[in-house]
Amino acid sequence: MIIEPRTRGFICLTAHPKGCEKNVMDQIEYVKSKGAIDGAKKVLVIGASTGFGLASRITSAFGSGAATIGVYFEKPPSEKRPASPGWYNTAAFEKEAHKEGLYAKSINGDAFSNEIKQQTLDLIKADLGQIDMVIYSLASPVRTHPDTGVRYKSVLKPIGGKFENKTVDFHTGKVSNVSIEPAQGDDIENTVAVMGGEDWKMWIDQLQKEGLLADGFTTIAYSYIGPSLTEAVYRKGTIGRAKDHLEATAFTISDSLKAVDGKAYVSVNKALVTQASSAIPVIPLYISLLYKVMKEKGIHEGCIEQIQRLFQDRLYVENTPTDEQGRIRIDDWEMREDVQARVSELWAEATSETLPEIGDLKGYEKDFFNLFGFKVDGVDYDEDVNEIVEIPGLQ
Ligand code: NAI
Ligand code: NA
Repeated sequence: MIIEPRTRGFICLTAHPKGCEKNVMDQIEYVKSKGAIDGAKKVLVIGASTGFGLASRITSAFGSGAATIGVYFEKPPSEKRPASPGWYNTAAFEKEAHKEGLYAKSINGDAFSNEIKQQTLDLIKADLGQIDMVIYSLASPVRTHPDTGVRYKSVLKPIGGKFENKTVDFHTGKVSNVSIEPAQGDDIENTVAVMGGEDWKMWIDQLQKEGLLADGFTTIAYSYIGPSLTEAVYRKGTIGRAKDHLEATAFTISDSLKAVDGKAYVSVNKALVTQASSAIPVIPLYISLLYKVMKEKGIHEGCIEQIQRLFQDRLYVENTPTDEQGRIRIDDWEMREDVQARVSELWAEATSETLPEIGDLKGYEKDFFNLFGFKVDGVDYDEDVNEIVEIPGLQ
């Protein structure tokens, strides 16, 4: 079939297998071009199919020659409908990994559930024995608690007062004012239940209990801070509470890992266009200004550049540098004073009329479509493609 983008709000309902494959190939090429990283050799990536998790899997495999198991939640293709992008990404990744003789298998299902955890543990036991790294990169709006069956929904709301600021609809370029009512009731605890650290700790505890963690084991999860512009709705909002919890959980996990001389890290990453971030109000306007400024300064990075640098310059060096709160910072270029000062100036000037000039709306839009395999350079979209693609290592 000929597959075209069909968008609804900040999601795209279709994905292009060739475009997704090209994205993965480009990321693999990038990692190879940066040389070998002396990193982990047996890696489990939870949230492995898109965004930072996919970049982490690619960097582990093609930077360090790691065997990887990926866990993700993606829709398979059917005769009527293409798959979700992470399906095609994983298919391309595993095909390339296998070509190079690298072990790569995956499990598609709800990572929050006991069933998927058990299936993953069994696979590790059977194939790898032990693992030396877990990358935790889930982004989900909902979580069903495995013990209670309660289904939690996360919300993106400010805390304490109403949030009013500018936002942009990146499809139309229209800048408007948005007003978001503050969290109420169980909003905070629900968001923490979904995006906080409880599930991360459950994974590590279960792996450890079954003796599947190698000596010197490391685990890492991803967080975000961002500027004062987005603070009320992000870091000081409901999602920020979840990130506080995730960051605190790193210490709890590190304590329990003492027996295997292990450590848990959180890395604070840069704001980037992913399926997760497109859904957050105000963030797309911030990102379009940020991209413009960082590209002008020659310091723009995507997921793969971020994770490659994280592994090479932070994680796998003698003494991993952290901030006062023990977090790895790879958002250092985003948070540079000159970058943030310029973004603030542009923010004040941003209107529907000025944004095409002062912001990188085009870059935002291209990145957004690229997530689904569209508008990828070097892909012929007039070509008939087979939407039925198999993932070679899918269990
Ligand atoms: P993403 O949407 O690209 O990736 C989410 C991954 O989680 C996908 O592999 C998806 O299949 C998987 N997933 C979702 N629900 C699942 C479930 N129930 N079971 C199994 N797999 C499931 O998101 P992104 O942006 O890469 O986010 C990953 C982490 O990075 C998140 O913790 C996010 O907060 C963090 N982060 C994101 C930033 C951004 O600007 N995008 C900036 C800094 C941190
Ligand atoms: Na991810």
